[in-house]
Order: sequence, then structure tokens, then C-alpha cells
Amino acid sequence: SATEQPHRTAFHFQPPQNWMNDPNGPMYYNGVYHLFYQHNPFGPLFSNQIYWAHSVSQDLINWIPLDLAIAPTEPFDINSCWSGSATILPGNIPAILYTGIDSENRQVQNLAVPKNLSDPYLNEWVKYTGNPVINLPDGIQPDDFRDPTTAWMADDGRWRILVGSQKDKTGIAFVYQSDDFVSWSKYDSPLLTVPGTGIWECPDFFPVWVDSAKGVDTSVMNSRVKHVLKVGLFDYARDYYMIGNYSPSKENYVPQNELTLSTLRYDYGKYYASKSFFDPVKDRRILMAWVNESDSEADDIAKGWSGLHSFPRSVWLDQNQKQLVQWPIDEIEMLYENEVSFQYKKLEDGSLHEIQGVTASQADVKISFKLANLEEAEEMDPGWVDPQLICSEQDASKQGKFGPFGLLALASNDLTEQTAIFFRVFQKNGRYVVLMCSDQSRSSTKNGIDKTIYGAFLEIDPQEDEISLRTLIDHSIIESFGGGGKTCITARVYPTLAIGGDARLFVFNYGTESVVISELNAWSVKKAQMNVQTP
Ligand code: FRU
Repeated sequence: SATEQPHRTAFHFQPPQNWMNDPNGPMYYNGVYHLFYQHNPFGPLFSNQIYWAHSVSQDLINWIPLDLAIAPTEPFDINSCWSGSATILPGNIPAILYTGIDSENRQVQNLAVPKNLSDPYLNEWVKYTGNPVINLPDGIQPDDFRDPTTAWMADDGRWRILVGSQKDKTGIAFVYQSDDFVSWSKYDSPLLTVPGTGIWECPDFFPVWVDSAKGVDTSVMNSRVKHVLKVGLFDYARDYYMIGNYSPSKENYVPQNELTLSTLRYDYGKYYASKSFFDPVKDRRILMAWVNESDSEADDIAKGWSGLHSFPRSVWLDQNQKQLVQWPIDEIEMLYENEVSFQYKKLEDGSLHEIQGVTASQADVKISFKLANLEEAEEMDPGWVDPQLICSEQDASKQGKFGPFGLLALASNDLTEQTAIFFRVFQKNGRYVVLMCSDQSRSSTKNGIDKTIYGAFLEIDPQEDEISLRTLIDHSIIESFGGGGKTCITARVYPTLAIGGDARLFVFNYGTESVVISELNAWSVKKAQMNVQTP
């Protein structure tokens, strides 16, 4: 019940119980969306017997649980079935490539296909008897070779995939090619290597249109696309991406931005091991990720579960071609009720205004802030370069001029518990800098929880554009999208007072300069059918 399980979610993907990590093999096939995930079916913690669990959906909102799809049973995967991806082969045949931990604890890549293509849910999967299809390359440590991508086909008719790896702390994306999806050979030169970044987990490689927010199928290659390479840095549990130009004939990828710890991330909070797929139904690319717990293992044992997936997002290239934009898929509207909206509300210094009429523990909120007299903005301290650090030092309780202003989510009656998602605006060298923060430091009265404050810059010009914030609130997860999805921050929180019907929602401004809400829309979000058997 809600009081016994106040942190279970209503519309975020999660299994009925036990451990979940990465999303695996998302795909659309014959009218059905499939999502697999890394799962320990026997307990709420990670284990050395990881399975592929399987769910299906018609709408990416309501999910039906199926039997476990891939189990660690064979010499080539006896010690776990780790992450991988799906590809739809010619003739409309789905195929899964996944990492097996073999009987000698080596990571190898395996193939599995549906047992019966006329089963609408593809319940059963058969492993290719010749597995592994890819063995550990020479010179690579046995536990440093995993997570095959969705394959793409180049003009030469050959499939390509990436596999994540490292050698002496240099992150590597190996390229393999195949004519038949069964026999694979490695290119001598990897797609990319970056020294000092450690192992690259769950690489993802896909095209984006340079001039459209629609999605691009993974094998499309022409002058209207750029390619995104995403890698998960295990050492930091963060997903970083690059945008660049890919040439399959030369098998070379030239990223336009560098991969460093302070460069582009999908999300500047908790968001890892993401994977995207092309959705032909709505012509979009959809992204999902694992959002792990911030509480303790003892808490997870008490709850009986651990791990969520982010709400599915559409992802596309920003008009400036320098970064991606992400936005929750429109299907969330199926779950909307109780819309509350208003226009033009001035928030003076110190104001706190409650958004009443929506279920604050299960909500979607969109706000647009308009700022005047920007010349009054504070000069930014030249030493402030790391946005997460600025947000931690200048947390939601520190008054500035423009900011902090934003949203107080999952707030208790007396505000002891609150998660503040807010902005600050500074001047620097005659330009404006917008900082976006998610402050979990007061999110729970409970101790022993990771309450790290997150932050990132938002690349907009507040002279031209209003500052928009959209936040999805779902009991123990808060996903925030700044500037129409240019900067995203996801957080996990575990309120003890601000739970269920006791949670409250506010807009606030603790800056000395006033800000105007030009428009606010908020909805309660109903509970989805989440991996429960339907009658
Ligand atoms: C990422 C990851 C993958 C691996 C899987 C194991 O979270 O470590 O690299 O395949 O999880 O569950």
C-alpha cells in the first residue's frame, strides 16, 4: 500500500519486485513495444545471476510482464546475461545481441532470436547454438568487453555494431562487422578511444536529423544526418555523448565535441546505461535509462525492490546542432487528470505560492518564467566553473538576485522536506549565464541517503527566451527538463512526510529580483498498469 511503499512509482517503469538495472533491447515489432531489462528475479540487490526480463506495451505507458526471456543457463552465459540490444533484420526478424559471462568468467557476445515469430509478444527466445558469436579480443581483460549496440547496415550491405571496452583506462568502442549477423569480425581501429575515461559501458550510436526533431532509423546515412555516440563511464556512473560525422566507408567517426568529464551529458543527475531505439509508429527516437536508488542496500531489502527506468523521452538534435534535446513522450497525456493552469503571476522576493488541485506526489508541471531588468543580474564569480559545485554551495536556501526561483516538489506541510528545482541567472563577460539546479539536500528527514545536489548550465539567452521548466514528479523520482529539454536533471528522493496525499507542490522565488510566471500548467498523473497481470 501507499503508506507501506511510499516510494514505489505510479508511471515509471519498474518490475513488481526485486532488482532492476539497465534497459535492454528496446524495440517496436509488429504493433508491440518490447522492453527487456537487467533483472535479479530472486532479490532486491544485484547478483551474479542476472537475467533478461521482458515486458510489452501498446503505448509505452502500460506494461505487461512476460516470462524471463534470457536466463544464464549455457557455458557461454552461465554466469549472467548482461546488457545488449535488438536489431530488426531483413525479412522482419528481430535479433538480440547480448553479453554473456561465460563459464570462465569471460565476457562474450551472444545471439538470440524469437522462437516463434507469429507469437505477438515474442515470449520465448532461443539462443544460437554456435554462441558466442564474438569472443574476447586479444589483449582485453575478460571483464572489459560488453554491451553490444543495435546494428546498423552500411552501403556495402554489411552490419556493424559497437562493443564497449577499455585497455589501461582508455575507453574503447570496438567496431565489428558481419554479413549474416552470425559471423563477426573486428575492425582493426575502434570507432573511438579516449584515454583516461575507463571502461565504456552501454555504448549507443545513432543518427539524428540536422534539421528535424523526428527520429532517424539506425541504418540511415546521408548528408542530412549527424551521428551521436553515447558512452556510459562506469567510473562515474554517467552517460556522456558526442555529436559528430560518421563515415562508414572509412569506418571513422569525428566528434565535434570532446569527451571530458565536464562535457555533454544526457542528464546531469542520476541517469545511466541508457539506450535508444527508433519508433517507426511516430517517427521518433526514444531514449530510456536506468535510474538507480539513492537509498541504502538495507532500505532496498526492506522495500523488496531496487531500480527504476526514466520516463521515455524523445531525443533529437537542437537547432544549433551542438547538443541534443529531450522531452517526455506525449503519451503521458493519457494519464493526465485535474489540469491546473494560470497565467501571469508575479513572484516577488521571498514568495511561495502553492499549486493546489493536483496530486503533488504524481504530477507533471510546466512553468515558464519571464525575467525583466536582467542588467541587475549578479556578476558570476570567475572561480565558479563547475555547475554542480555552484548548485551545492549556492543551494536553494541561499538568496541571490535572480534566483533561486523555481519549484518545490514533494514538500511536507512545514517544508522540512522539499526538493527544490531552481534557476539562477548571472552575468559573465557581458553575457548571461543560466544555472539549473536540483537540490535534494532537504528531500528527506531520513539519514543514510545520497542527497547530492545536481546542477548544469542551460544554454539559452534569457534576454530572448523565457526560462522554462518541466518536472515529472513520481513519489521517489523527479525528472526535470530546463529550456524545453536542453538540460535534464533526474533525482531520486525518499520523503517520509511528503508522501502520498500529504505531499505539496509550490513555486517559489527567494531571489531579491522579482520574476514573472507567464504560464503554468500542471496535471495529476494517474497510475499506469505497470507490470501487473491484467485480467
Ligand atoms: C551497466 C552495466 C553493463 C552490464 C550490465 C550488468 O549498468 O554494468 O555494462 O552489461 O550493467 O548488469
